[in-house]
Amino acid sequence: MLKVIIHLCALWPLVWLYTQAFNDGLGADPVKYVIHFTGIGALNILLITLCISPIAKYFRQGYLLNVRRLLGLYVFFYACLHLTNFIVFDLQFDWPLLWGEIIERPYITVGMAALLLLLALSVTSPMAIRKRMGANWQKLHNWIYLVVLLVCTHFIWSVKSDITEPLIYFAMAFVLLWFRKDKAWRFIKFFGKHRKPQNGIKTTPKS
Ligand code: HEM
Repeated sequence: MLKVIIHLCALWPLVWLYTQAFNDGLGADPVKYVIHFTGIGALNILLITLCISPIAKYFRQGYLLNVRRLLGLYVFFYACLHLTNFIVFDLQFDWPLLWGEIIERPYITVGMAALLLLLALSVTSPMAIRKRMGANWQKLHNWIYLVVLLVCTHFIWSVKSDITEPLIYFAMAFVLLWFRKDKAWRFIKFFGKHRKPQNGIKTTPKS
């Protein structure tokens, strides 16, 4: 039942969006509207996904953990639509221009990095792959913490004037990361352990 509600809540806004878009119902700048709508949609679902574990633990509602995968896939789906809208309506399939945007505009570079990480998390989300990956699965999926920070950075960088809204999203992301500060800290230490040796001197990780 919960999964049906999630499907409806995720798909209905998209039906509304594209119906309005093809009936001139999105105001003066419909291209900006659809890019904004799908970008914010992806970020909202990402933050909701990160809320699930703390809520499930606090209220002892373990079954909630079962919907994280579905929500995560919707984050990726919305993010793909966001990129597709950008390519189709804004760039009008100008692939060299897309490549130029990725290289020259830092906020697009960061958005692309977040999308590629979401791709890696999505393709490894089926249970069969999870079992095969063993402990590495959790290590890979901890990258979601980096994704949320990248997306908030992408948002704040994309805004030209008033940064209140992205700052609120940053604050929400920090609160959600604070709930799992031990895991996030382990994730940061993982980078420390795997950093490249400098000047040929190998850095051995402290246990
Ligand atoms: C290749 C990847 C991406 C591209 C090319 C891209 C492109 C864009 C563009 C063109 C904008 C509008 C900037 C403006 O108003 O001028 C935008 C905003 C935004 N994007 Fe992305 N994006 C990418 C990835 C992502 C991902 C992965 C997410 C979330 C999971 C995301 C979330 C957002 C958000 C929240 C905004 C702000 C919405 C707004 O106020 O317009 N983006 N992005």
